[in-house]
Amino acid sequence: MEIIICSDASGVGELAAAKLARVVRDATSAPVLGVATGSSPLRAYLALARLVAAGKIDLSQAYAFALDEYVGLPAGHPESYAEVIRTTVTEPLGLDPARVRCPDGFATDLEAAGPAYEAAIKAAGGVDVQLLGVGANGHIGFNEPTSSLSSRTRIKTLATRTRLDNQRFFAHLDEVPNHCLTQGLGTIMDARHVVLVAQGESKARAIRGLVEGPVTAMCPGSVLQLHPHATIIIDEQAARQLTLADYYRDTYAKKPSWQRFDQ
Ligand code: F6R
Repeated sequence: MEIIICSDASGVGELAAAKLARVVRDATSAPVLGVATGSSPLRAYLALARLVAAGKIDLSQAYAFALDEYVGLPAGHPESYAEVIRTTVTEPLGLDPARVRCPDGFATDLEAAGPAYEAAIKAAGGVDVQLLGVGANGHIGFNEPTSSLSSRTRIKTLATRTRLDNQRFFAHLDEVPNHCLTQGLGTIMDARHVVLVAQGESKARAIRGLVEGPVTAMCPGSVLQLHPHATIIIDEQAARQLTLADYYRDTYAKKPSWQRFDQ
């Protein structure tokens, strides 16, 4: 696990975009991106959009798969993740909408929607790089505490903490769905690279558990300790509870240039 502590949130976005751009440039066929919603990755998408606009990367042939979708919202709802991905990812990055997919939280057969999504990811060749945020309770995707570490895309019940955190996107808590369709932890672990971003003190406890705690379903993000190419990019506030923060800073400062992706 590579842990990079940036001085502020905009540094987190720039560095995450640089890492994604490196994977895209290295891809030998159409790159496959795993994309997240929520506030955490927004700066990375803006930084990536700047790279696209400057002609430094081309995402017109890329595929993208979202992590999750609410269940219970009407199709086209502005807070549905299909809409959020369209406005924050597909359009700004110049992706082909036909190559962008979200789990089908509107499906009449929700049980079949999970395996269908897994099959679509597989048919695209698997995810080259998965961008992730983390919930205050340690969830990644919507894999809430006690999710199986080998789970696949399926329906989940959102934790009260998650619904309260996401209430800011809705007028009332009652409007926040109770259910979602989410990639499983096993699905996320299949990505060839994962990049997790976190900013702010509200994520400090989750980051401590994810990076330095035991691998446990009580902190689902801790499964990333088992991933061979996991990069955790966080700001100083999110790093506040890390015991080995100085070691991570030192390691990054001494990284040989051939291992760096920020240049
Ligand atoms: C989003 C997702 C979630 C969020 C997490 C953090 O697709 O799967 O795991 O990344 O809830 O949300 P923010 O970034 O809004 O704090």
